[in-house]
Amino acid sequence: MKDVYILGIESSCDETSCAIVKNGCEEIATVISSQIDIHKTYGGVVPEIASREHVKNITIVIEECLKEANMKMEEMDAIAITYGPGLIGSLLVGLEAAKTLAYIYQKPLIPVHHIAGHIYANSLVKPLEFPLLALVVSGGHTELIKMEDHLSFQKLGGTLDDAIGECYDKVARIIGLAYPGGPKVDALAKKGNPTYPLPTPLQDDSYNFSFSGLKSAAINLNHKLEQRGEKLNLEDFAASFQKVATDSIISKAKKALEQEHLKHFIIAGGVAANQVLREKAEKMCQELKVDLSIPPMKFCTDNAAMIACAGYYAYQKGIRADYHLNSVSSVPLTTGKENASC
Ligand code: KG4
Ligand code: ZN
Repeated sequence: MKDVYILGIESSCDETSCAIVKNGCEEIATVISSQIDIHKTYGGVVPEIASREHVKNITIVIEECLKEANMKMEEMDAIAITYGPGLIGSLLVGLEAAKTLAYIYQKPLIPVHHIAGHIYANSLVKPLEFPLLALVVSGGHTELIKMEDHLSFQKLGGTLDDAIGECYDKVARIIGLAYPGGPKVDALAKKGNPTYPLPTPLQDDSYNFSFSGLKSAAINLNHKLEQRGEKLNLEDFAASFQKVATDSIISKAKKALEQEHLKHFIIAGGVAANQVLREKAEKMCQELKVDLSIPPMKFCTDNAAMIACAGYYAYQKGIRADYHLNSVSSVPLTTGKENASC
């Protein structure tokens, strides 16, 4: 069978990225230009700055990717683009670049939901086995998704308030750690013990999560100690927060794997880089005899290889967008353009 090369473009938040993936599973080249250093001064992503940076970087990133792959646009079978969700100004930069390339080189344009991309980062590790459970944990999402086939997404549950990554970033901020705080809290927690009492989030029969109570409790604990003139042990604080947050995620994932009789557990999104979450997932999957995939660190946070992977399956199913395709800041995965179960 002829090999299929998909060029993916991702610009939904603060990473401008272009990648080429062969047959939906083999990375040929990935270029990521991150804006983290620019946004960290402001404690979070500033949308207006992000879109201007994407404009500066997009053509350079695409050219570099083709150069790294030693390939030409003519050799691509299709162009996959993140159309949403994300920051609208940022999304539009990638979308316009993708449409322009599709028009000039007369290539099919494949619309990809950002979260579908995160999920399909796992196909760079090994083929997805259905039915599976995808745990999507990022700065904007905390969701449990069941998939019975490619591009068929059924939401089992999600956060009722803050996303887990957002919660990590806010807790990091109150202890003076720069954006993005997640990796820094993770590193600190490694050196500490979970000695501080923090409440266990939502323990009910649903597959939903809630992290705002945990976030407020962590902030209040910090204030209380400050008022008493006591010094917070940052390592122990990070370890305490991390234990409660990851326990909550793993317990809901376990319930879903058991009750829905699922055989593959995949983790997606920036928080999949978390060391403790990875360890707990490994232990749980061994106990349940369920296969586990977690993308390598590089493919956990935003990147275009994951968009090219999801784009490959959409391409094979005949999903195409025309030049009217628009970016959307908010769109559930379950009603996305590529979802087979809608
Ligand atoms: O998927 P992503 O790159 O962007 C979104 O689509 O949100 O995820 C970024 C999020 C940030 O909140 C960041 O703090 C978090 O992922 N993150 C982590 C770790 N690495 C990144 N959170 C906890 N532990 C980590 N090691
Ligand atoms: Zn993301």
